[in-house]
Amino acid sequence: MDLKLPQVIGHRGAALAAPENTLESFREAAAQGARWVEFDVGLSADGQCFVLHDDTLDRTTSGKGPAHLKTVAELKTLDAGFWFGKAFEGAKLPTLAETVALLTELDLMANVEIKGAPEGRHAELATAVMAELRRLWPASKPKPLISSFELECLRTAQAAAPEFPRGYLIWGRQVDWLANARSVAAATMNIDTDHATQGWMAELKQAGYGVLVYTVNAPERAARLIEWGADGVFTDAPGAVLARLGKG
Ligand code: G3P
Repeated sequence: MDLKLPQVIGHRGAALAAPENTLESFREAAAQGARWVEFDVGLSADGQCFVLHDDTLDRTTSGKGPAHLKTVAELKTLDAGFWFGKAFEGAKLPTLAETVALLTELDLMANVEIKGAPEGRHAELATAVMAELRRLWPASKPKPLISSFELECLRTAQAAAPEFPRGYLIWGRQVDWLANARSVAAATMNIDTDHATQGWMAELKQAGYGVLVYTVNAPERAARLIEWGADGVFTDAPGAVLARLGKG
């Protein structure tokens, strides 16, 4: 696998400066100097992949209720920017296809997080995501990193498109992390900053995993984690972290 990990990944784009998981946010991350962005993918009622973090629409769009009950046509009628500020009114909830097209235009790399799908649709979601990425991701670019908290999503991704590297997302120091990571041949462990001690990161590196830490908005903390051995961090403020690392 041609996976070269970045030190800075724009979390949901540049979520402190633009509404998360919108094309505007990915453009902002690129404008701040990020070369990688992370975003979350779910499955619509009509089986299409769209980009949204929450299960429900309420927090980040003008819609209400579970997102997976809406068709893509319905999701596209929503405003995904007004809640963040007037300048972003009218921003749309992007599909995975629209997001890949923008990342291609901006030459950005990605960590695609497959969210847990409600009602046992993990495999259906992961299958749809991988089919779309295989179809749309430019052959000339390294493959994006596919991550999930859900092992079933990673297992399905591995079976459907083994050439895409996988990241096992966890919160806390789970006792079964190594067995789980091995079972899906993960390339990275994506761990939360509260549990990212120097000792544990050394253990993860020793076991052969890349280490990515979420979500790190304080530049000093990002610098410390990298000093301790993290390969990179997910941050809502990629510009500030890049500047602290001397890469701004
Ligand atoms: O992928 C890193 C981080 O985004 C994981 O947490 O809740 O933002 O999906 P969450």
